[in-house]
Amino acid sequence: MEKKKIDWGGLGFDYIKTDWRFVADYKEGAWEEGGLTDQGDLVINECAGVLQYSQSCFEGLKAYTTEDGRIVTFRPDLNGERMENSCRRLEMPVYPREKFVDAVLRTVKANEAFVPPYGSGATLYIRPFMFASGPVIGVKPSDEYQFRVFTTPVGPYFKGGVKPLTIRISDFDRAAPNGTGHIKAGLNYAMSLYAIVDAHKQGFDENMYLDAATRTKVEETGGANFIFVTKDGKVVTPKSSSILPSITRRSLMYVAKEYLGLETEEREIYKEELKDFAECGLCGTAAVISPVGKIVDHGDEICLPCGMEDMGPVTRKLYDTLTGIQMGRIEAPAGWIREIK
Ligand code: PLP
Ligand code: COI
Repeated sequence: MEKKKIDWGGLGFDYIKTDWRFVADYKEGAWEEGGLTDQGDLVINECAGVLQYSQSCFEGLKAYTTEDGRIVTFRPDLNGERMENSCRRLEMPVYPREKFVDAVLRTVKANEAFVPPYGSGATLYIRPFMFASGPVIGVKPSDEYQFRVFTTPVGPYFKGGVKPLTIRISDFDRAAPNGTGHIKAGLNYAMSLYAIVDAHKQGFDENMYLDAATRTKVEETGGANFIFVTKDGKVVTPKSSSILPSITRRSLMYVAKEYLGLETEEREIYKEELKDFAECGLCGTAAVISPVGKIVDHGDEICLPCGMEDMGPVTRKLYDTLTGIQMGRIEAPAGWIREIK
């Protein structure tokens, strides 16, 4: 199979249309079998639930070329499980995780020519999503839905690759205590756009959101969880019922403990503690681990000791081990890697 002629090393995190996508419709109470199509544009009714009341959710994962030339995905079953939970919370019909994984693998296989080569710094981003396609004018769930999976080759999410970021503590809230912060609903991202555009205008790379109820605890950013490293080398991550259960973060905590022998802790993290950490990073499928060098709290600067030039030493070890597992250089725990054949 011949690869597409793409400047893999020059890719940013943008949409590039690939050849195939998976589509399945839900009608009359059941999912149809679904299949691959080359149609990337869709026509839907003006009153579709997604257009009127934003009834939609999505997932994000990646396909990698390993050192020995295989194409693999990372823990797609966990994305399938999370999408099931998103669907339940949004009154959407669950697309079963086994079928989800199958659709992901089929879509990647069909777009093999777009999977970036090993060592290029790029990966194939996979975007499964579901939306209400049937008309609703009263506020209620739709009767019809569509599930899709498309792919797009991507480079780093943050321009500048692994240069430490400057983030600010946001005055906007991302998620209410009993709201939808723990699921991957499109509406969580629509309402974050104002805050991210404002952050960029003010010269920041991202927002750090605090818990909406007390505004004293660290939650996450608009598209990634946080990990912190204490001065005595412990890896700590915020515990909250209103953040997205990041698959990258859960994997990193396992890697920290089981591969690197580090102490780990998932607990509430207070804003007041930020000045005491040695390292901070954003973690997620798109972000991988993006180091944070500075956190600005309304003019007060918290400069992480690792500085603005490079990742801190523990973040680097976590990054190298996780990407080593994803690219097949380091043996993965059982069940983490699904090969595409
Ligand atoms: N938090 C938010 C709000 C996200 O959008 C994402 C991205 O999916 C993450 C965290 C990271 O999750 P994961 O590691 O599963 O990609
Ligand atoms: C991902 O990491 O997959 C996400 O969905 C986050 C988004 C900000 C691109």
